[in-house]
Amino acid sequence: MTSYDKLLLENKAWAKEMKKADPEFFSRLEHIQTPEFLWIGCSDSRVPANQITNTYPGEIFVHRNIANLVVNTDVNMLSVLHYAVDVLKVKHVIVCGHYGCGGIKAALTTNDYKQVLNMWLRNIKDVYRIHRDELEQLPEGDPRLNKLVELTVQEQVINLSKTSIVQKAWAEENRPHLHGWVYNLADGLINPVFDMVAGSKVDPAFAYSNFH
Ligand code: CO
Repeated sequence: MTSYDKLLLENKAWAKEMKKADPEFFSRLEHIQTPEFLWIGCSDSRVPANQITNTYPGEIFVHRNIANLVVNTDVNMLSVLHYAVDVLKVKHVIVCGHYGCGGIKAALTTNDYKQVLNMWLRNIKDVYRIHRDELEQLPEGDPRLNKLVELTVQEQVINLSKTSIVQKAWAEENRPHLHGWVYNLADGLINPVFDMVAGSKVDPAFAYSNFH
């Protein structure tokens, strides 16, 4: 059996098992999607949102990209954010990075990864520049890498607060709360590193006042 045939076979077994445990499971989810959370995570195969939070389909709306970045020209991420906040009315947006992230590691090198990867990793290099003093107090290697993982998550949460999508929802509905988490591949545990509750102060340079 090929590896992808096994996926299809396992899918049949899973669907059967779910239906046995909860006969209404699929018919319920087919007609209504009301997740409380938007998850912006790394594409890394070792950090699956549902599995590490022990949640089911229907509970977390998910967007993933390399190094879990919130880039203000990323139409894909912004569409997901807009839909999750304005239509699904999520209460929480979680940016979840992970220690040892390959994207962050790549951004710490001087290697030319060619466009488009250089373009993407540039966002992480900008985080490094902003926090250079703090980072360079740490030894090179894992300590510096993992601090950059945490600071990158923090900056992506701040990037969320710079969007009119989040600011409008904060002003009108006092949600969503923003959370920055880092998952540890070594023990499976999540470290919460940074939060912005709804209504937190936004840097005036990025604040909007006339929402439409
Ligand atoms: Co990663």
